Amino acid sequence: MLPMDELIATYKEALNTRDASSRFCTLITLDELGYPASRVLTIRSIDESGIRLYVNKNSPKVMHLQNDEKFEVLFFWPNLMKQYKVRGDFELFTEADQISQWKHKPYAGRLVDMYHSLGRNQSSKVDSREVIETEIAKLADQYSQELLIQPPEDLVTLLIKPTYISAWVNMQKNRIHNRTEYTLTNSQWLAQVLVP
Ligand SMILES: Cc1cc2nc3c(=O)[nH]c(=O)nc-3n(C[C@H](O)[C@H](O)[C@H](O)COP(=O)(O)O)c2cc1C
Repeated sequence: MLPMDELIATYKEALNTRDASSRFCTLITLDELGYPASRVLTIRSIDESGIRLYVNKNSPKVMHLQNDEKFEVLFFWPNLMKQYKVRGDFELFTEADQISQWKHKPYAGRLVDMYHSLGRNQSSKVDSREVIETEIAKLADQYSQELLIQPPEDLVTLLIKPTYISAWVNMQKNRIHNRTEYTLTNSQWLAQVLVP
């Protein structure tokens, strides 16, 4: 099976087994000082076109990607005891699906998205939590549930197009776990077995 097909199938299987971490991944970028910076993100979809994540385009993670395009995405699905590490290319854009789905997000989450856009940038420093709560309450006065149907422009899709997939699959029987590294070269996936 091609590694991308394997990733898609394993993601579906993790969702089907209601794996607690099936909906999440960890994106690692490099910050302005060269340190690895990791954070958990919600997987919106994984299909032939790539891995879809929703991010704020003024957030540190996007700044990191724009400054240094190296990144890694880590998936660990404990129900299946499988780990995948993905590197590749990425695109940032606004998608019709994302826009139409946004109004179905809980109101509180939509308010926070608006706050990033109209109030304060995600991950920026603030004196206290009370400041944030007060400012978001003001936004709620301004934007009722019914008015908040259009996502802010800075909420975008980060589409990751894998060119490197490193798989770790638990082999319970003999503990010699399966490790294979796949690299996309000239549109062909090359497989390399690794010692577990
Ligand atoms: C379970 C979980 C799901 C999350 N999903 C998202 C997400 O889909 N998009 C997002 O921007 N941040 C998400 N976050 C918050 C990020 O981990 C992170 O704190 C935030 O994006 C700011 O990251 P940055 O400062 O590195 O840009 C999630 C956090 C957790 C724990």
